[in-house]
Amino acid sequence: MLNFQNHTLELANGVQMPIIGFGTWQIPLNEHFTSSVQTAIQIGYRHFDTAQIYNNAQLLGEAIRDSGVPRSEFFISTKLWTSHRSYECAMEGFEQILEQLQMDYVDLLLIHWPASQGEAVVWQAQNYGAWRALETIYAQKRARAIGLANFLPHHLVPLLARASVAPMVNQLESHPGYTQFRAAGFSLANRIPVQNWSPLGRGTLLRHPIMTAIAEGHGVTPAQVALRWSLQHGLCPIPKATELRHQQENLRIWHFELTPEEMKILDTMPQTAFSGLHPDTVTF
Ligand SMILES: NC(=O)c1ccc[n+]([C@@H]2O[C@H](COP(=O)([O-])OP(=O)(O)OC[C@H]3O[C@@H](n4cnc5c(N)ncnc54)[C@H](OP(=O)(O)O)[C@@H]3O)[C@@H](O)[C@H]2O)c1
Repeated sequence: MLNFQNHTLELANGVQMPIIGFGTWQIPLNEHFTSSVQTAIQIGYRHFDTAQIYNNAQLLGEAIRDSGVPRSEFFISTKLWTSHRSYECAMEGFEQILEQLQMDYVDLLLIHWPASQGEAVVWQAQNYGAWRALETIYAQKRARAIGLANFLPHHLVPLLARASVAPMVNQLESHPGYTQFRAAGFSLANRIPVQNWSPLGRGTLLRHPIMTAIAEGHGVTPAQVALRWSLQHGLCPIPKATELRHQQENLRIWHFELTPEEMKILDTMPQTAFSGLHPDTVTF
């Protein structure tokens, strides 16, 4: 359950995860990246979401070291890409991640996308191979928690049947206009907390008249409405924001509450701002 007092979520093994994470996908890999992360750290972000494929681990690690804030105060989450699905490849990919971050552990390690195409027996075995690597890394205490991303119920069920360590997080696209309630609900029912990616619908959701009307009523911004919607559904959002004003706004979501009527309106919005990425059809 989300702790609204200290803004953390306790994972199944007792690790405390700051509810709001800072997304780092597609921030240009130059001084803009460094200054965005530095500002974010200064105003209080401690949870950063990266991935092998984002290619920013080196810059992120540097910004964190240069901040002067102890490593132990950060919550660093990363994901293994689809090119590293076998046990051996996943182990090797993780070594590269640590090398780039210049860290000796991460706080959360995820499988970025499930294998899910072709023969079911084959893709299920691939997912289990990667998961066994995560279990090994967890046993070695080089990841404080392990989990999944983009695993829908039909990917989760076979994995859960074989896993020795249950996934501690599932990261899914979810926002008003593309809720994925079925997948999120299935994870939550299996005691797997859900982080929601693209919680602002990559910015395009925020221009929708429903979002602006509800925001006006509370004297907040559409981004704050989208993030508050996440919290009230028990989801942990990981918004990306490079503008300082955006970064600040996205941390100020604790002081107001959406009504049940507003939640209903947001829950049933027509499809808006879907990324187009579905685990059964992506080509990577
Ligand atoms: N697991 C996965 O497969 C997966 C997939 C996609 C993303 N992710 C993760 O989720 C993170 C977030 O998703 P995302 O980057 O796709 O999109 P997002 O967080 O939904 O939206 C980011 C966009 O919203 C703008 N924005 C941020 N705060 C705002 C505010 N308060 N008011 C107005 N605009 C605001 C940003 O602008 P500025 O930058 O100009 O501030 C940026 O253009 C990613 O960075 C990544 O870490 C994971």
